[in-house]
Amino acid sequence: MQNILGIETSCDETAVAVYSRQRGLLAHQIYSQVALHAEYGGVVPELASRDHVRKLAPLIAAALDEAGLCRADGIAYTRGPGLLGALLVGGAVARGLGMAWRVPVLGVHHMEGHLLSPLLETDAPSFPFVALLVSGGHTLLVAVEGVGRYRQLGTTVDDAVGEAFDKTAKLLALGYPGGPALARLAEEGDPGRFVFPRPMLDRPGLDFSFSGLKTAVALAVRDADPADHADIARGFEEAVTETLTVKCRRALQATGYARLVVAGGVGANRRLREQLDAAAAANGFRVYFPRQAFCTDNGAMIAHVGALRLPGDTDAASDPMAVARWPL
Ligand code: KG4
Ligand code: ZN
Repeated sequence: MQNILGIETSCDETAVAVYSRQRGLLAHQIYSQVALHAEYGGVVPELASRDHVRKLAPLIAAALDEAGLCRADGIAYTRGPGLLGALLVGGAVARGLGMAWRVPVLGVHHMEGHLLSPLLETDAPSFPFVALLVSGGHTLLVAVEGVGRYRQLGTTVDDAVGEAFDKTAKLLALGYPGGPALARLAEEGDPGRFVFPRPMLDRPGLDFSFSGLKTAVALAVRDADPADHADIARGFEEAVTETLTVKCRRALQATGYARLVVAGGVGANRRLREQLDAAAAANGFRVYFPRQAFCTDNGAMIAHVGALRLPGDTDAASDPMAVARWPL
């Protein structure tokens, strides 16, 4: 079980990678559908599935070519959670190839891929660590004790963080996905002019809520003129990043761990990084930010889980090929 092919099609990226147990990551291919969905202001599931159908086979060929292989010794694919039609494309191709090549196939939990993705880096954290996963679809704090040993500490009760960034960006007419544009606008803003609520900071516990903040911003935008937008963006960003930072600190205190890993698209946010770095220096923990390509959805994290788990955890024929909702 030398080389594992990893396939990720849970949302709007078609991603394929080859991970070698001996040599690490050999190939890494990704095709983003962002432009396809942009005009609709969000991911359209049926269009996502169709585009995975078009792009997956050529990407697998390209990844094998990049790795200098004509087949792999095992296949891992994202079984869930995600968009059912999109997942089915990856699952069907993985199972079909598994039969053709006569190699074991494993359906991987997408969040397990994210949780273990920092181990793809050379400066990898050792276990245990706390992981903050913040993207358009996920907001999770998880205690990671080892492979397969995950304890969810907190999640969002409504919107995901990236979703809150994107919806707020929409209010400010910044397009989709607007998170990065909002962050750029916020750099020009005054952090002290609009002070928005820090959701759920006054309560114990490690859950998050972002819909109330979004409403507060909507009211501010209604009463403001466009010249205020940068200050509003900055006020929103401060409220979100401070909330995330405080909850991370609490999660580290509660577990007694000294390492924090941040993954997901929102992990690219500069203010979040600054605040977490400052908290790490003040509180004596270390924070790891995997490179951007491993933070967002990718095939390497799925191939990597396959390398850790195959052949022991190979799928049975009766296992479902896709699961839209699947707790960690
Ligand atoms: O992990 P990701 O690429 O895709 C998934 O959601 O699975 O995360 C994308 C999310 C989007 O909501 C995007 O607006 C947000 O991450 N994002 C950011 C920044 N860059 C990306 N949010 C805030 N600041 C950023 N710099
Ligand atoms: Zn993801």
